[in-house]
Amino acid sequence: MRTMETPIGCRLEASRPFSLLIFGATGDLARKKIFPALYQLGLNSLLPEHFFILGAARRKLSAEGFREDMRQAVRSAFPGEFEEKKWQNLAEKIHYSHIESDSASSCNALLADCSLLEKKYETYQNRLFYLAVPPPAFETLIRGIGESRLKTDGGGYTHIVIEKPHGHDLESARRLTGLLGRYFRQDQCYFMDHYLAKETVQNILMFRFANSIFEPLWNNRFIDHVQITAAETLGIENRAEYYERAGVLRDMFQNHLLQLMTLIAMEPPSSFEAEKVRDEKMKVLSSVKPFPLSGINEWAAVGQYGPGRIGGREVAGYRGEPGVPPGSTVATYAALKVQIDNWRWHGVPFYLRSGKRLARRKAGISVHFRPAPRLMFEGILEGDILPNTLTLRIQPQEGIDLFFQTKLPGSRLCLNPVSMDFSYPETFALDDYARILLDAMQGDQMLFVRADAVEKSWELLTPLIGKIEPAVRQEDFPNYAAGSSGPAEAGALLAREGRQWDPL
Ligand code: BG6
Repeated sequence: MRTMETPIGCRLEASRPFSLLIFGATGDLARKKIFPALYQLGLNSLLPEHFFILGAARRKLSAEGFREDMRQAVRSAFPGEFEEKKWQNLAEKIHYSHIESDSASSCNALLADCSLLEKKYETYQNRLFYLAVPPPAFETLIRGIGESRLKTDGGGYTHIVIEKPHGHDLESARRLTGLLGRYFRQDQCYFMDHYLAKETVQNILMFRFANSIFEPLWNNRFIDHVQITAAETLGIENRAEYYERAGVLRDMFQNHLLQLMTLIAMEPPSSFEAEKVRDEKMKVLSSVKPFPLSGINEWAAVGQYGPGRIGGREVAGYRGEPGVPPGSTVATYAALKVQIDNWRWHGVPFYLRSGKRLARRKAGISVHFRPAPRLMFEGILEGDILPNTLTLRIQPQEGIDLFFQTKLPGSRLCLNPVSMDFSYPETFALDDYARILLDAMQGDQMLFVRADAVEKSWELLTPLIGKIEPAVRQEDFPNYAAGSSGPAEAGALLAREGRQWDPL
């Protein structure tokens, strides 16, 4: 189990007293992410003395039964590293209430339990609501909380964490943000994107703005193109119902990939505060050129995995996953060319790709610099001079690589491409969900997406999805084998422009 070593001056602090109310507490998200994250916070002494957790769901369950379920979940999240005593410290603050529905009357009924616990634990009505329910339940629950007395009106804070997906298209996203806006202020709404909490993603801004040597090169004079990759070996993991509605563009691009792009492309904020940073990110999204909907193949490629082998094991194709209809045309892979039309980035393509069941799990960003002119080496060097590349490795093996040329020792003039690399130590960070929870407890919105950015991302992608989805015919898919590096169409997207994808 990873505990943190923090350099002096970087210490994370436990939050103020709080209560955490988890709706949908018996679901997968609570088991796989939220409770392991809480356990990790406890292990790192990042929970205050005064707090409690109240799980709420439709299942009839005793508090004892709920604790035991969560204990099992945390044990399997940290195999071989689970510490019973540490768990007990957390477990004694975990409670459970069965709720009939997500309506205001159910929320008011929950208030009775919550108020009793608030007195017992002295948490001053600082309430953090976590909506870990399936998307169709969001609207009723937001109304339920908003119209009930669960929402505090003084004496403490109300923070509401909204899991993705944040809508299904522009219209539904506007409905969601509008509904939240009816009951909660912007500073109370926390739109989750767990990618933003990955330590290496947070590092992007430090790397760009705390070093003076890169910023002068960070523009279209020196950068040829940028590649952003989120490749997974996993399939859809029994989430057919969700994935059939979502597909990769909604699942990974509307949120994670576009967010990564904003961090790479944004201007330096005037100060390192959540609103200032989020203003700059929003400006990037506003500068993205709308995708021309004719000639879509020049901008986008999609794919769906067929059967194949990963890690020496046969795996089923998407259409063979439980719950997926045999003729599904849902895309599990996409590659997009995005153009940011501002002074810094005009003419520099950002290529984004993500897919399931690919050859390797790999997420990262690589900045490809323009090639050096080779005239002075004409007739002396054989072959091309490979351009410099800077790679920010997000996962696994988090770190940074700078690729450049040196002379190969010896009397002949030969280039020797080398890489200078930095890897984060194993013990470097809190997991993404732990970090997100800590920030939501502390009221820091830096790592959360703002409502206007949620809408803007949908505004960019909705027309494109509307064009692509109906154009895919049953016989077009599957077009890549599980365990491969994706469909040939994605390679063609870059090859047409004389470029190629980084290997996975
Ligand atoms: C989630 C998507 O947001 O991110 C999943 O819904 C995806 O489909 C996951 O697998 C990837 O996150 P990570 O942190 O495992 O790279």
